[in-house]
Order: sequence, then C-alpha cells, then structure tokens
Amino acid sequence: MKLPKITIAIDGYSSTGKSSFAKLLAKELGLLYLDSGALYRGVTLFAQEAGYIDAENHISEALKEKLASLELKFLQGKLYIGERCVEDEIRSMKVSSQVSPIAAVAYIRHYVDDCLHCLAAEESVIMDGRDIGTTVFPNAQVKIFMTASEEVRVRRRYDELLAKGSNPDFEEVRENLRQRDYIDSHRETSPLSQASDAFVLDNSEMTLKEEVEWAKGLIRGKLGIYEEC
Ligand code: DC
Repeated sequence: MKLPKITIAIDGYSSTGKSSFAKLLAKELGLLYLDSGALYRGVTLFAQEAGYIDAENHISEALKEKLASLELKFLQGKLYIGERCVEDEIRSMKVSSQVSPIAAVAYIRHYVDDCLHCLAAEESVIMDGRDIGTTVFPNAQVKIFMTASEEVRVRRRYDELLAKGSNPDFEEVRENLRQRDYIDSHRETSPLSQASDAFVLDNSEMTLKEEVEWAKGLIRGKLGIYEEC
C-alpha cells in the first residue's frame, strides 16, 4: 500500500499488545515505529539511578533541570541513554513499578512530547502510548484505541517477563497493571482516554495477524486507498 506522509496514533491500556501490533504494522507499511512508553521508562530509569525518585515515589525537583541534558534516542528500535542501550532495564518490574508516577508529572510529559515531535518531524510514523491521539498528535490521520480483558493482559505481561528470564508473581503483575491503569487514567495532565475519532480494537480474542489485517483495512478506508497490500 503506497501511503502519503501520515501519522498513526495507537493508544490504550497497559499490556494490550500495542507495541507488538504497532511494530508489525510499521514493518508491513514501511513506517517508522516510535514507542512513547519507552521514553517514560527511560526517564524513570534515569531518575532511579540518579536518586531523583524515592521508594514512596517522591520525585526531586532536581530532575527538572537534569532532563535538559538527558539524551534519549532509539537505535534499531532499542532505547539508549547516551551511548548505553537500556532496552532490557527499562522493561524490568523495578522500572514498571515507578513509571506511572513519573509519567504523571507535567514537565516530564512536555519533555517526552518534545522528543516525540522531533523524532516524527520528517517521517511517517506509527506511535503508541496513552495520549498520542488526544494530546501528542491530535491531528493524526488514523487513531486506534486498544483494549483487552484484564485476564488476557495480565497473562501477556506475565509471559513477557518470564520470557525475559525474570521470575514474576502473577498477582503482583496484576496489581502493577491495575495501579498503572488507575494512575494513567486519573492523572491531571493528559490522562489515558479514547480520542473521540479513534477506532476501538479489542484484541482479547484476536491473533496479531488478524489485528494487522483489520488495521490495514481501516487505514485503506480512512485514506481512500483501494489497492490491496
Ligand atoms: O506502554 P508502556 O507500558 O511501556 O508505558 C509505560 C508507562 O508510561 C505507562 O504506565 C504509562 C506511561 N505512558 C504515558 O503516560 N503516556 C504515553 N504516551 C506512553 C506511556
């Protein structure tokens, strides 16, 4: 499918499979994939290592100043802080347990939004997150809001952690997911919500291949493209 320069926004709850879906769709359509959650995770890791967030989730004001010198970038789809690849560390339970309070801070959201706008300036992109269609790219041509049952989401996250070699506790994973959903949906600055012009994709009982086919049909319809891809 030949596409004009476009932005595709994918939002939704934690562990709905947004990144696997967005990555495959990006590959099939030849677009750049940007994982906005990875940037919030990168800021969280940075804050933890520098001692700017404590065990009670108090965030030091010093982080605000330090963000100006924090260099986050993607190389071959993996997140780097400066020259260090942090892709594995940002997916740990330690980072997951503090990323939502970090992502609720307005100045951190502005920092990440600026990064995303820079990264998406030149190219067609598929971006996933919580507020892409509502705040970051409200004019995205195609918006998809993903959801799935809690049981399916907890299982996915649990399997993902197992596959990465950690030893997760199923109920702890469920609790972390619930907490993140709550904080993400109730924060003051750009909470997780469905854009009024977003299409809902409930993938509780869909394969990844089916999701991508559904999305291609949607994109063709939205952009008025009739040729098959
Ligand atoms: O998609 P993820 O689980 O990697 O995202 C990590 C956290 O970052 C999640 O708890 C919500 C937050 N986030 C956000 O607030 N806004 C975004 N656009 C992306 C992620």
